[in-house]
Amino acid sequence: MATKDFGVIETDYAFFMSHATEAKSDVEEYARKLVGFGNGRSDIHLLDFGCGTGEFSRQLLDALAWPKASLYLTLFEPVDHQQEIAAKRLSCYSDHAIASLGEASYDQRPTFDVILSNHVLYYAENLGQTIDQLLERLHPEGKMLLAMAGHENALIKLWKVGFDLLNQPIPYYVAEDVAENLASHDVRIEMSLSHYQLRFPDSEENRWKILRFLFGDYLRKIPREELLQEFDPYVEDDHIAINTFSEHFLVELNAKA
Ligand SMILES: C[S@@+](CC[C@H](N)C(=O)[O-])C[C@H]1O[C@@H](n2cnc3c(N)ncnc32)[C@H](O)[C@@H]1O
Repeated sequence: MATKDFGVIETDYAFFMSHATEAKSDVEEYARKLVGFGNGRSDIHLLDFGCGTGEFSRQLLDALAWPKASLYLTLFEPVDHQQEIAAKRLSCYSDHAIASLGEASYDQRPTFDVILSNHVLYYAENLGQTIDQLLERLHPEGKMLLAMAGHENALIKLWKVGFDLLNQPIPYYVAEDVAENLASHDVRIEMSLSHYQLRFPDSEENRWKILRFLFGDYLRKIPREELLQEFDPYVEDDHIAINTFSEHFLVELNAKA
């Protein structure tokens, strides 16, 4: 599948994050899934796969309030400077050095108690291989937590419109692909929904910011007016207000006989 460079759309993604309740709803959903997980554990090894600038995990770790002495963090993010920002931002939640996936220190700790990948797997080059690799790194009693939007999500519907205009299928994975792939593994899966609102002052530039975040480089090739008008049904006074939802997956390994 296509790759997507979040370095060049950093400010557009930040605009989305600051005008959506998505992160707040996702944090609440993960925190529900992790209630009591820290109790009695002296070590919690957490991998944040596709951490971006760490802003999401900052909010999650605030909510979880796990002891700094127990938490060991490992990050993976293809945009190098974002991973550096994330490491700085998250360092106050752990007494231990923040590790990077692929470092020697990471290999010394082969499994993680929690693997988080929040709205990342759309952009995997090979979803099956990525999920296999993540499951290999999940501790037998660990939890893998994923969020992904599916075909019923309003933004994925925008992808469909835009890529239809280019006469091509959506070049990214969606929640349904993750569900299908996980079904072929020997794992327990609990799915739930996370509802959120995207609301921003209506202007052509703001509509364009959301489109740049969604389409990245592809946007240059898509007829501008046809995509911009896709926001019209969501006009509320002088704002755009989109109510939609994502899927959450809690994945645990089945005990080996
Ligand atoms: C929508 S952002 C989510 C960032 C962060 N997890 C959050 O919740 O704010 C998607 C992130 O996935 C990263 N990403 C893109 N392709 C990736 C890949 N193949 N493997 C891991 N991460 C990837 C991007 O650089 C970006 O930081």
